Formats: sequence, C-alpha cells, structure tokens
Amino acid sequence: MTAPWAAGDDPQVYSVARSADVVQIRQVIRALAQQCRLSLVDQTKMITAASELARNTLTYGGGGTVSAGVVSDASKRGVAAVFEDSGPGIADVDQAMTDGWTSGGGLGLGLSGARRLVDDFRLHTVPGEGTTVTIIKWAR
Ligand SMILES: Nc1ncnc2c1ncn2[C@@H]1O[C@H](COP(=O)(O)OP(=O)(O)OP(=O)(O)O)[C@@H](O)[C@H]1O
Ligand SMILES: [Mg+2]
Repeated sequence: MTAPWAAGDDPQVYSVARSADVVQIRQVIRALAQQCRLSLVDQTKMITAASELARNTLTYGGGGTVSAGVVSDASKRGVAAVFEDSGPGIADVDQAMTDGWTSGGGLGLGLSGARRLVDDFRLHTVPGEGTTVTIIKWAR
C-alpha cells in the first residue's frame, strides 16, 4: 500500500491505545486542517472521519497508530491521515463498507460515513494481519 507522503512531507505518528488518544487525534487533525485553510465544513468532515477511523483502530484493531500531516500535489494542499493496526483484519470489506453493517454494537456507519466525508479513501486489510485506512481531504 502506497503511503500518501512525498519527500519533504513531515507526517507525525500518534499512538492509538486509549480513548484519550482519539481526542488528541481530533485536535491534531483540526490544527492541520486549519493550517491548510480547509473550510470550516471541510475541517469538521475530516475530523469526523478521522475520529471514526481512530475509534475503529482502537475497538477492532486492538490499538495501533495514526500518521497525520500535510500533503500537496502540483496545485493543491490537503490533510492526510493513515490509520494502521495489526488486529484481525476485515474478512469481507464490501460488507464492512455497507451502511448499517456492524459486527458489534455500533451503528455500522463509521467506515461508510468516513468514505463519504473525505476526497480520498483507501482501505487495505489482510485477515489475520491488520488493517490500514488512508484518507485525504484537499483544500479547495
Ligand atoms: N480496524 C478494523 N479492524 C477490524 N475490523 C474492523 C476495523 N474497522 C472496522 N472493522 C469492522 O467493520 C465493521 C464496520 O465498521 P464501522 O466503523 O462502519 O461500524 P461500527 O464501528 O461497527 O459502528 P459505528 O462506527 O457506526 O459506531 C465493524 O463492525 C468491524 O467489524
Ligand atoms: Mg466504527
């Protein structure tokens, strides 16, 4: 799985081991989104998506890491975040991405909602090895 980072990017890595880490990740994403001049609505969308994915990393992945930072291409800047765990992985990705499907007591809207809230969403998972989700929100 290709990371979103290019030479010169400076992503920071955060541990996701407890609920308080999810709060910290929200703050980190907010600061990056403001730095990139995302609109208030887009800031909220990126923060919400990151929050859902960090919660999944914690709940289902047994904890992991988030790498977060600013990315750029020829014409624009954005915020990228990569959520990684070494948990059980997801056996059926289509099912997991379906609105309302949950293996636990959730609403089943975290993954599907996160995908709708961001510009770029990539999920890579290997059963028995873990899950990596990469999201990007570009400033417009
Ligand atoms: N990192 C992960 N590792 C393993 N399984 C995962 C991971 N993330 C999601 N899943 C699986 O995908 C399902 C759907 O995830 P999703 O976030 O959409 O819903 P949820 O967490 O069950 O409920 P909600 O997020 O709405 O409270 C989960 O119930 C879980 O089975
Ligand atoms: Mg969830």
